[in-house]
Formats: sequence, C-alpha cells, structure tokens
Amino acid sequence: MSSDSTTASTAAFVEQLLARMTLEQKVGQMLQPERMAITPDEVARHHIGSVLSGGGSAPGANLPADWIAMNDAYWAASMRDEPGRVPIPLLYGVDAVHGHGNVLGATIFPHNIGLGAARDPDLIERIAQITAREVLATGVEWTFAPTLAVARHLYWGRTYESFSEDTALVASYAAPFVRGMQGDLGEDSVIACAKHWVGDGGTTDGRDQGNTVLPESELERVHMAPYLPALEAGVLTVMASFNSWNGVKCHGNRYLITEVLKERLGFDGFVVSDWDGVDYLSDDPAEALAIATNAGIDMFMVSVKWRQYLDLLLQHVRTGVVPMSRIDDAVRRILSVKHRYGLFDRPRPAERKWSQVSCLGAPEHRAVAREAVRKSLVLLQNEGEILPLSRSARILVAGKNADNRGHQCGGFTVAWQGTSGNQSVIGGTSIWEGIREVAPGAVLSEDGSAADAAAHDVAIVVIGETPYAEGMGDIRPPGLAPLGSSPAGQPAQLSPYGETLELRLLHPEDLAVIRAIEAKGIPVVAVLVSGRPLIIDTELQHTAAFVAAWLPGSEGQGVADVLFGDFPFTGVLPFSWPRIATRWPSGYGL
Ligand code: BGC
Repeated sequence: MSSDSTTASTAAFVEQLLARMTLEQKVGQMLQPERMAITPDEVARHHIGSVLSGGGSAPGANLPADWIAMNDAYWAASMRDEPGRVPIPLLYGVDAVHGHGNVLGATIFPHNIGLGAARDPDLIERIAQITAREVLATGVEWTFAPTLAVARHLYWGRTYESFSEDTALVASYAAPFVRGMQGDLGEDSVIACAKHWVGDGGTTDGRDQGNTVLPESELERVHMAPYLPALEAGVLTVMASFNSWNGVKCHGNRYLITEVLKERLGFDGFVVSDWDGVDYLSDDPAEALAIATNAGIDMFMVSVKWRQYLDLLLQHVRTGVVPMSRIDDAVRRILSVKHRYGLFDRPRPAERKWSQVSCLGAPEHRAVAREAVRKSLVLLQNEGEILPLSRSARILVAGKNADNRGHQCGGFTVAWQGTSGNQSVIGGTSIWEGIREVAPGAVLSEDGSAADAAAHDVAIVVIGETPYAEGMGDIRPPGLAPLGSSPAGQPAQLSPYGETLELRLLHPEDLAVIRAIEAKGIPVVAVLVSGRPLIIDTELQHTAAFVAAWLPGSEGQGVADVLFGDFPFTGVLPFSWPRIATRWPSGYGL
C-alpha cells in the first residue's frame, strides 16, 4: 500500500496533468485497443492510454526483440511532444497467466489448478516474480493476472485458471501473487490485475460467461473474499467479469463495481473491462457504453471497435449521458496507476533494465517451474506401492500426452487455445523427455503397440485432455453455446469441449492404450494431464498407479522427479474429485 506522502504527490501530479488535458485526450486514455487494430500513429493521434495483446497475439517472429520494438514504437508515439498534446506513457497489457505464455521460449508454469495442489504461497510469490521479469524482458508493463476465480463447477472451461474450489486457498495466494508481481513498484515490477470481478467461477452449470445465481452474502463469502487480500497488497487494477450476477451482467453492474469494489472496499486503482465485454450489455453500442461507463468501468478493452467507442464516449459527455465527473474519475485512476508504477519516470521500453537482459526461459526460472510441477502432482492410486519406480526398471512410455509439450501446457500458451506438439513450446521438456533423462533405457511408443511383457516391467501412460481456453473448454450439450469472446474480435458461437466429464467417453483412446498394455500383462502407471478432475473410475480399475499432473507447463521433468522418487508426492487435491458420473443438481445430465 502506498504511503500518505506518495499518495499526495501522485494526486498533485495527476491533478496538474488533468487540468491540461482536453476531453479527447481524457477519453483516449480510457481505451485499450488490441495491437492488431491500432498503429503507433493512431495511438499518438487519439491519445490512447493502453494497448493489449489478446491471447496468442504477438508481433513479428514472437521473440523478445520483436516485443520490445513494438512496445518502444507505441511508447514513443504516446510520448510525442507536439503542440496541444500532453505526453502520457502508454501501458501495454498481456495475459501472463502461467508465465509469459504468449511468447516463444518463455518459462511456462503449471496452470493455477496445479499450483493450488502445491499449497505453497511462497512458491506463488516466486513464480509471480519470475513471470514479472520475463514480462519486463519484452518491454511489457501489465499482466491480466492473478485470476482469483473460485471455480465451483468442473464443467467450466476455465476451471484450470482457478487455484481451487476453496475460497480460503484462493485467498491465501492472492497477496503473495500481487507482491511477487508488483514488488515495490520499481523497475523490477509489473502491474497485476485481479480478475474477473466477480463471481466468474459460480455460474450455473459452469457455463462460461454465464449467470451466477447467489444471494449477496454467498457472493461475498465465496467469490469476493479472495479479492480482499489482493486489494490489501495494493493490486493496481481489476478486470470486470463476463458473467452475470442474478441476471445482471457484471460489466454493467454499478453496485458491484462502484459501490462495493471502489467505495466499500476502497479500491483506488482502475477497472478494465474484459475483451469486448461491454458489447454484451445492449444491442445498441451507445447504450452499452453508457451503462458500462456509468457503472464504473474506467478502461475499455476493445478488440477492433475503438474508434466507435471514442466517438460514442465523446458524444455521451457532450449530451450529458455520462457526466464529466465520471470521465475525470476514470482518467484520474488511470493516471494515478501510471504514476504510482513510476511509468512517467521510466525510459523507453528498449532502455529499461530488464529489456537488456535475456532472461526469458532462463535455467533458474525453469528450475522454479520444475519445483512447481513436483509440488503439484497428486497421487490418486498406488497399488502394491508400484511407485516410486526404479531407474533401472525396463520402462515403456505411452499415451498421446507423453511427448507433447503443447498439450501439457494447456490453453493460453503461444496461442489463445494452446498448441499441440513440441515445436511451438521452445525449451523445457515433455514428460517423456524428462523420463528419458532419468531412465535412459525407457522406450516411447505413443499408441502402446511396442508393449512387450518380456521387454517391459512397467508402462507409464500419459493421458488426458488436449488444450482449450474459456468457453471452448466447457462441458455442455451442443447447441447451448453462449456468445463468447474471440481474439479475432467477432463474438462467436463456441462449441464445447465435450458433453461429459467421463474420461472413457471424452477420450476413449486413452482407455484403449491402457487396456492394450494391461492385456499384455504389464502394470500401468497413468499420468493424467488435465485442466480439471475427470471421472476416471474405469481407468482406475485398469491401472496400478494413477497421478494427477494437471497442466504442468513446460517443465515435464518435474513429473519424472517424483515418479522415480527423487522427491515425494506432496500435492493435495485443490478440487473435490467426483468418483462417478451423476446429474448435477442444477442442470442437465452427463
Ligand atoms: C479473457 C480475459 C483475458 C482477455 C485478454 C478474455 O477473453 O476473459 O481473461 O485477460 O481475454 O486476452
């Protein structure tokens, strides 16, 4: 939290800036277009306050130098000192939600669900600190993390972004994450963003962007509680949520954004909307923007329609639909965050401390990611104490997720929906590559066809989900797709990931490989790569040991560390694990 004197100096600085700004300049600060939709010249001309990369949106060859060059150009445009223009440095935002996942060669940490299993707040702080360094190494200043969702339904495609179904566990990670990311707001710091305000994890049937039906006391107790330590730790930004609360969209909910978050909880940073989230408030864009601005959204994340937003907002102020005091409040908040973060004193991105350091994917960063993988593994079954394995055992490695760094990283890795294969996740090790390092005699046969009882003592079969993000990961009947956001900017009907949580139906190929190997008389150790607990009662019957590995990220070696007993299993389930398929109380069956 800032001291009284820094607060006073920020306030004085912001007031004198505000007094020099025209309405156009103020409104420009409130916009955050996507990089593909805006040039540096347009940033200068329209006084744009921020630009973002949507999931998977990257400049040039997607290397740190490309990012620095891009940010440098936007920054220089925002700082152009021309008559009648007040130079204000631009803020660039990305989703560094499990490491700086958009960028090739970054260290990819386990998704939040795995970190929840680790029960280690100190680890969270170190991960956030390392992520901040890698983000700074690309000239970026702001990340849309941490996600403080308390996922209450495994059907939700964003379950893996949630540390836990348990509010207390999510809350215990909020401050360490913010501290690790924002530090002392000096040159090693990145601005954090607690998201999504509020109730994103509580929607009926786990529908992404759906409706959370709860009395206020429950909303507070379950979903708001993790924000309190984040606010206490001084988180500078909060993102509004796509979901509704009791039928009212959060993006247009003045009570939740202004009265609760800003007034009651005293949040003095700024609130950013989610990707085109304002568009869903009304079929009439002018009305939608008026509702959102008056509800208390301070900055608008817009994929492409930022010019229309600019014009409409100016018009709203001129006609009195949005009071000037609301615009001043929003801009004051945005400028205060920029000042508190020290952005006005920082050199251009190319000349900043971490831009000079090639720390992306550094060995010491990967070592922490590997530690996180080890601590996230949960042992679900171990018949006859088959685990830990001996290094000298004759091992067959099989399963579609055995040698696939893309799959083990999940969504929000290089592309919004994640990637498949080893090629686009540069550096790190697949689970197979990690096993091979420890047990050089191990053999890979993805479909298990090489299984031979005379040649193999045990098989490690790596199974589970393939990558998805947001509504594309929902489990629901087809035809019930909600309108969703997409990086292309067009709301799209999203098809669900599947219609059931039963792994044998969702991914029958996994059981087929397990059974083929079992039929040859070789005991199977299953390693499940997944963004949520799945129903695995059948697979459990056909395996000797079963390990939940969640979405471990780029350092697959952490799995071998534990399978071979160099480290013990210490992970504890962050979510209840359903044993059998059942109807959910509120909705459709499985
Ligand atoms: C997601 C946010 C994310 C934003 C920017 C949205 O679709 O809901 O969590 O920060 O995109 O990529």
